[in-house]
Formats: sequence, C-alpha cells, structure tokens
Amino acid sequence: MHDAATVSKPRESREPIRARKPAFPFGSDIPRHWFAASPFATHMANGLNLLFPLGERFFIRSVRRYMSHVEDDPRLRADVRGFIAQEVRHGLEHERFFEVLEGQGYRIEPFLEAYERIAFGFIERVAPEKLGLAVTVALEHFTATMAEAALSKPFLDHAHPVMRDLLRWHAAEEIEHKAVAFDVLRRVDDSYALRIAGLVVATATLMPFWFAAAGYLMRQDRDVSLRALLRDRRRIRQAEDSDRADLKKAFLDYLRRDFHPDDHDNAGLAKTYLAANPGTSSV
Ligand SMILES: [Fe+2]
Ligand SMILES: [Fe+2]
Repeated sequence: MHDAATVSKPRESREPIRARKPAFPFGSDIPRHWFAASPFATHMANGLNLLFPLGERFFIRSVRRYMSHVEDDPRLRADVRGFIAQEVRHGLEHERFFEVLEGQGYRIEPFLEAYERIAFGFIERVAPEKLGLAVTVALEHFTATMAEAALSKPFLDHAHPVMRDLLRWHAAEEIEHKAVAFDVLRRVDDSYALRIAGLVVATATLMPFWFAAAGYLMRQDRDVSLRALLRDRRRIRQAEDSDRADLKKAFLDYLRRDFHPDDHDNAGLAKTYLAANPGTSSV
C-alpha cells in the first residue's frame, strides 16, 4: 500500500522532538499571488493557512487532555511535550501571516469567527472527547501526507521564498511528530471503529472548511475574475490531481487495521531538510 516498505526506528531510538523558533520576515514584498503566480493555488494555500492556528490549538487541547495516560512512558510524555511546543509555534507563525493577508486588503475576521464558532464552539463541544483525539490523529495523518509532498516535490520551488520556507519548516516538523497523537490514542482507546470515526469526521470537516476559506478569499480578489480563476485552475490541474491522489492513497492506507504512521518511513526527508536549514531559513 505504501511506497516505503521499511518501518521507522522505534520511538526510543529516535531524536527527541523539539520546537525550533524561526521568525519569518513576512512583509509587503510577498505578492498577492505568491504561489507559482497562480491565483487559484495561492488562495487554496492561503485558505489552509487560515485554518492552521485554530486547528493546531485544537490538536493541542485534544492531546493534552490525555497527558495522564502517558505518565508511565517518559519517552512518549517527552514527545507529547515536543509535539505541543511545535504546534504552538506553527500556529503563531501562520497567524503572523494573517497580517500580510490583511495588508493585501483581505477581510479575514468574519471567516475566522464563523470557523471558530462552528468547528470549536459547536462540533468540538458536542463530540465526545475521545472522538476529538481520533479526529486529531486523522488530521495529523493528512498533514504528514501533505508535508511529504511539500518536501519531496518541487512545487514549492515556485513559491515566494518566505512562504516556501514557512511551509517547508512546518512540513518537516509535522513529519517529526506525525506518530505522537496516534500513540496517545492507542493508549487511550485502540478501537478501530473510533480511529475510523475520527477519519470520517476529519474528512467531512476539513474539506468544507478548506474550500470555504479559499472561496472566501477568492471572492475578495478583485484582480481576478471567476473566469480567470477557472482558467488558472485548469493550468495547474496536474499538480492538483497529484495532491488529490496523495490524499486518496493516505486515506486508504489509514483504513488498514494495523496502520501506524511510522509504517511509511519519510523521516529522512525532514532530517535532510532541517540539517540543511537549521534556522530554518529566511532568518
Ligand atoms: Fe503543525
Ligand atoms: Fe501536527
């Protein structure tokens, strides 16, 4: 099912998870269509950017709630701390990019308020806490899948350097901590049905919020007509098809009863990137 047949090293023999603290120089030089000069690709990426900070704070809440379940495993407990520290930093850096969007004339607050109210004020509150953790685990799997693409495919070479560095740093750390929430869920409740329920809810919520965020920004982009956006989408169709194929494969892989994030060994991608960009770039 997966490309890399080898299984990653056991947790004990891996490097500890630690948060780096880059400070990306977001500024007015980031063009409106910073991703491959493509309005469509830029709005999709910006839409995902709008989801990250609140989404990552939800991941932290979901995992931290179960800290007592990892007390007898010092290594996993340390990894949970590393996971939280990394996600805090991701949220902060993506939030700093919001100022760039506002500087470009986009109104983002109304979307963020609606997203917070529906996703976290309603769905998170009515869902059982264990399901919240299972949703986090599924979203971490999707994030790690997109992270692998960000580090192994050349498409970010066509992004503005600051945005490229932001996304590749985030991608590398997502790969580093991709198994942490999964290992916590396994200790809390290793039911297959719960894990799959998390996948269903994650898929059914991520996609609509992502499209809503991107659509919200597209509608405000006065430089590009709907017709031009559709033409642009056709131009980047190949990349879009490849992303969809990656996510579909990740979805199917997750359905295996014996799935574990480390089955797919992509740790080397993160390691190589971070070794070459310890800072991690743009600083
Ligand atoms: Fe993250
Ligand atoms: Fe993550």
